[in-house]
Amino acid sequence: MLTVRAPATSANLGSGFDVFGVALDRPADVVRVEKADEISIEVTGVGSQYIPEDPDKNTVGAVADALDAPAHIEIDKGVRPASGLGSSAASAAAAAVGLNELYDRGHSREELVPIAAKGEAVVSGDAHDDNVAPSIMGGFTIATDDGVTKVDADIPLVACLPDIVVSTRDARRVVPESARVDQLVETVGWAATLTTGMHRDDPHLVGEGMNDTVVTPARAELIDGYSQVRDAALDAGATGVTISGAGPTVIAACEEGNRRSVGTAMIDRFNSVGVEARVYQTEIGRGATLF
Ligand code: HSE
Repeated sequence: MLTVRAPATSANLGSGFDVFGVALDRPADVVRVEKADEISIEVTGVGSQYIPEDPDKNTVGAVADALDAPAHIEIDKGVRPASGLGSSAASAAAAAVGLNELYDRGHSREELVPIAAKGEAVVSGDAHDDNVAPSIMGGFTIATDDGVTKVDADIPLVACLPDIVVSTRDARRVVPESARVDQLVETVGWAATLTTGMHRDDPHLVGEGMNDTVVTPARAELIDGYSQVRDAALDAGATGVTISGAGPTVIAACEEGNRRSVGTAMIDRFNSVGVEARVYQTEIGRGATLF
């Protein structure tokens, strides 16, 4: 039996819609895999009651199929489903890394990204690489049709998860079909600024690059209190704030010394609009780890 810990992720980061992602140091899913004649799945942990154990409907079933690696797979969820923290991607990433090792398939981490994305397609209807890439490879990742580029970056982050649910399907339905050229120009500037900030471990450049005037404003309407929470985080010292993935988690970059005050400000502001929330004081972390 092998055990793999795969981290939560935050994908998009404002200007990098469906391209940028980061591995978070915490929370994480822990997955155990054991060779068997056929695929079976057992799910425990946060939100496990909402996750199907049928291999045809669970993200890890598709991964086991793609690797031709039948196994008994135990998933201990640390990443809440429908949180915007790459919950299904964490399970898919852990299964891909674990089954690749268990069956000695010999795939590189980068080759495992599209395999894990097949699992993502089972739950979201679309094969996105932007969450599975950082969960498998760690760091800050740029996922395009040509492959994944990874930067090892060190940026303090605060992820605030409100006690509301936003489905990825709903969050994708509100994405505008087109954008103006002036929005394209500013998005390119922010994306380049964010990437430079990751290379320099500079939370100010990363924060500036988390801006977005196309997708995030449309999705903010789905999150009660988003603009108040964003303002409160910025007042408390955040260098940038945006929606994590499809939401409802709100993610902030900051300097190390401001992490606690930013987290407290975000929780207090959600509470003030009647929404319970929890906070993860975290940072950019490494990818799936085998034990
Ligand atoms: N980039 C995706 C989105 C992540 O924001 O919709 C969720 O799969």
